[in-house]
Amino acid sequence: MRIPLVDLAAQHREVEDEVRQGWDEVLGNTSFILGQHVAAFEEEFARFSGVEHCIGVGNGTDALELALRAVGVGPGDEVVVPANTFIASALAVSRTGARPVFVDSDPVHHLIDVEQVKGAIGDRTKAILPVHLYGQMAEMERLLPLAEEAGVAVVEDAAQCQGATRNGQPAGSFGVAAGTSFYPGKNLGAYGDAGAVLTNDDEVCTRVRSLRAYGSEQKYHHPELGFNSRLDTLQAVVLRAKLSRLARWNAQRVEAALRYEALLEDVERVVLPQTLAGNGHVWHLYVIRVPERDRVLKALNDGGVGAGIHYPVPCHLQGAFSELGHVNGDFPVAERAAEEILSLPLFPQITEEQQVTVVAELRKALG
Ligand SMILES: Cc1ncc(COP(=O)(O)O)c(C=O)c1O
Repeated sequence: MRIPLVDLAAQHREVEDEVRQGWDEVLGNTSFILGQHVAAFEEEFARFSGVEHCIGVGNGTDALELALRAVGVGPGDEVVVPANTFIASALAVSRTGARPVFVDSDPVHHLIDVEQVKGAIGDRTKAILPVHLYGQMAEMERLLPLAEEAGVAVVEDAAQCQGATRNGQPAGSFGVAAGTSFYPGKNLGAYGDAGAVLTNDDEVCTRVRSLRAYGSEQKYHHPELGFNSRLDTLQAVVLRAKLSRLARWNAQRVEAALRYEALLEDVERVVLPQTLAGNGHVWHLYVIRVPERDRVLKALNDGGVGAGIHYPVPCHLQGAFSELGHVNGDFPVAERAAEEILSLPLFPQITEEQQVTVVAELRKALG
């Protein structure tokens, strides 16, 4: 692709020296598991996210599963989750033994539909898992009172929202816990799999620390069944280097999004992404809607533009969840989005020239 969806090489160039220096140090002292860099990153990312505790884990899916388990979600429970998200949000629920209860999204921002959440809460509901999708946050000020009234926990999926805010408050600091992903293409991305749980709750923190380390707080003593899911030390070095640049990179994403908005203003038949009032959007993805999406996507890809789809099949229609018995038509907003959405290349280092080319190719593709 002439213009990739995400240019990780451009990002790497900015942190290369720092990463090499840090990696040399780790290779020199062979302190490969946890250690000083992981502890320092956990502290730095907790501060960045406005929470007391950050616990580094192996990936974002584990982060969500461990967060759910730590707040007591398990077999027989239900967790309300949007159908329009990456499968990992719902997979994390299933892996605890609980059942995901899907709800639709709002048609403008593609975020969890709060009205439907009300209807989805039942006797077995243990938690709500809002997903802060594409770089902007769900309506936490409406979800939290609902959860409180029902006596259920809120666990945020903050995988696509590092640095985003809702009415000035950072993503991951609203619920009893949050899980985030540092998959390489995320706003804060590692050089492999990595993730973290965020929480203000001391007990949840202790449980997640135990769960990530074989169910153990004290070496070789295992009062519960746990996992091996720790943030890798080499990844912590990368994440520290990138975290110190994240605010600037997010600001560059905002600039790029504004530029797309201006460039796309007069392009007919394109629906532009909208920011929900009160959100500090960090533009993890720039998701437009177009007619004949698959044809347009192919034309863009053929023209050297690395556009993508996030996501082509909503969770409720995935084979993995077939036993829930959903059919086409259950969540029409998510289903329609899956047919129309198209993610344009967006990353902090994208140039005006690249964006002009993307939009020119899009005009051509739309005919
Ligand atoms: C919304 C969402 N939730 C969860 C995840 C899972 O993260 P990971 O791939 O690190 O397991 C991702 C990213 O992949 C995501 O985009």
